[in-house]
Formats: sequence, structure tokens, C-alpha cells
Amino acid sequence: MKRIAILTSGGDAPGMNAAVRAVARKAIFEGLEVYGVNYGFAGLVAGDIRRLDVADVGDIIQRGGTFLYSARYPEFATEEGQLKGIEQLKKFGIDGLVVIGGDGSYHGAMALTRHGFPAIGIPGTIDNDIPGTDYTIGFDTATNTVLESIDRIRDTATSHVRTFVIEVMGRNAGDIALWAGVAGGADDIIIPEHDFDMAEVAQRVKEGRDRGKKHCLIILAEGVKGGNEFAEELAEYGDFHTRVSILGHVVRGGSPTARDRVLASKFGAKAVELLLEGKGGLCVGMRNEEVVASDIIDTLENGKHQPDLSLYKLNKEISF
Ligand code: F6P
Repeated sequence: MKRIAILTSGGDAPGMNAAVRAVARKAIFEGLEVYGVNYGFAGLVAGDIRRLDVADVGDIIQRGGTFLYSARYPEFATEEGQLKGIEQLKKFGIDGLVVIGGDGSYHGAMALTRHGFPAIGIPGTIDNDIPGTDYTIGFDTATNTVLESIDRIRDTATSHVRTFVIEVMGRNAGDIALWAGVAGGADDIIIPEHDFDMAEVAQRVKEGRDRGKKHCLIILAEGVKGGNEFAEELAEYGDFHTRVSILGHVVRGGSPTARDRVLASKFGAKAVELLLEGKGGLCVGMRNEEVVASDIIDTLENGKHQPDLSLYKLNKEISF
């Protein structure tokens, strides 16, 4: 192995830059040449590839987004796209690829692996919905950004004695809602992985009001339904002076937390070690605070992400 390339793909996540830096620096430290692919798999197919030296990845560890840019590129699901990507890598003399991204990116890495090209996946998505790891790069930062918003909304909710439905990203996963909800003392957390009953939600709001509680915060994961629709249904059970706040893409930006930077650094170095050992077709992860590697095909086909549902129960017991 002499030359490796890195790409970031799918929705960006704070800490992706720290991961790119770690891959590049570790590879250079080990005597490899490093290339960066712009715009994920779209750039790979187009041959948008550039050499990365030590200084090229300087001053990025603290930056949100991805300086390699990203793209959603469903065309990479076709064999034609995959073979074209491999052709481009070969043209540059690249013999290993590190893919940083979420579910869709892992499928791209899996396809390259199936064609015999060594690719390693690093989990980078705010959603924390990737099997094979307890945490993904960007989840901690996004959760803290949501938490900051919850704290701010609590101020205005209290002043006006209002109920707030705060819709947060996460695609089909409730991890961000769960963690930020518990940390923010939310009255209720609504996630796709757990049923809810609107009559019970309304009852909880009403009980708080009757006790003289001034604010009520409901954290809603976007995978359940939209915040406005949820608020309209809640209104059928009474007038709780409800407002809706959809946090959206605000949550995807910003400087990564220390935890995300460390996670990204560990994952990046591990990915290079695996390629140096001549291994491909793996994805790295953190399990029980240990960096691990697992078969990417097996992880995607048989692994299933589950959020920490003990947080759901805990919140019911301590936040009302
Ligand atoms: O996967 C990350 C994520 O931010 C999800 O939480 C969200 O549902 C989706 O991406 C939004 O995608 P886009 O940026 O393409 O609108």
C-alpha cells in the first residue's frame, strides 16, 4: 500500500474534518501518499481528486462541515458508477480508500469492497444511526447544539407560560432527541423507536400546568412526524399555548466538541492501520469505549442500530 484516498459523503457532520486530518496525518506519518476526493462519490466518479500534504489538513480540526465537500449521489448505487470510481482511483495509483459518512456512504464502501477494492468506512453522521458503533462522529456536537437551543427555548417558554414542540433531526433515529431531551429536562421525548399516545402526552402537559409549571418542552424526533402536525394533533386535547420550533440544519454545523474530535482522531488512525495491514471491507467503530473494526458487509446486512432506550424510561421517571 503506497497511496490512499479519503472522501466524505452524505450529510456532513461536525468532526469530519478532524477525521480527514487524522487519516491524512497518520498515513503521512507511516510514509504513505494521501489524496483527497472532493464531493464524495460524485467527485470520485468525476475524478475530482487532489494530493493532500501535511499542511493541507492544518487548521481544520476545529472546523465544522467538511473541507473535502460532500454530496448525496444515488448514482453510485449502479455498477457503472462503481466501476468508473474504481477506474479513477486506479488512474491516480490509489490502492486504498477511506470513506467517512453515514449509511449511504457505507453502501458505497461496501460496493467497492465487493468489486475487490480495499475500502474502510468511518461512521460520520449526526444521526448516530450506524450499526457497528456506539457513537458516530458528529452526534455529540449535534446533541450539544440541540441542548443549547432547548435551554434558550426554555427561557422564553417560561416567560410566556408556553408549551414548545422542538423538532430535531435524526432521520429515522431518535438518538439526538433522546440525549438532548434527557440533558435538557424535557417533559416528553417522542422518538420513532417507541410508541406514544397523544392523549398521554396531553395529560402530562396538563398535569405540569396544574402544578403551576411555567414551561413545557416536548422534544420530537423528525422521524416520527413534523412538528406542526404534532402540535395540531396535541391541540385537539386542549389549548396549551403551543409553539413549534424546527431546529433543522442549524444542528449540522458548528465546531466539533472535544469528544467528536477525539473520536474522529481515533477512527482516522485506525482506518489507516487497517489499510496498512492489507485489510479492506471493514468499518471502524467505538464499542464500550474501545475502537473496533467489523466486516462492513456483515455490519450493514445484519447489524441494527438501537438507541439507548433506558434514557426514554429514565426521562419518564425524572422529568415531569
Ligand atoms: O443524515 C443527516 C441528516 O441531517 C438527517 O438528520 C436529516 O434527516 C437529513 O440529513 C437531511 O438531509 P439533507 O441535508 O439532504 O436535507
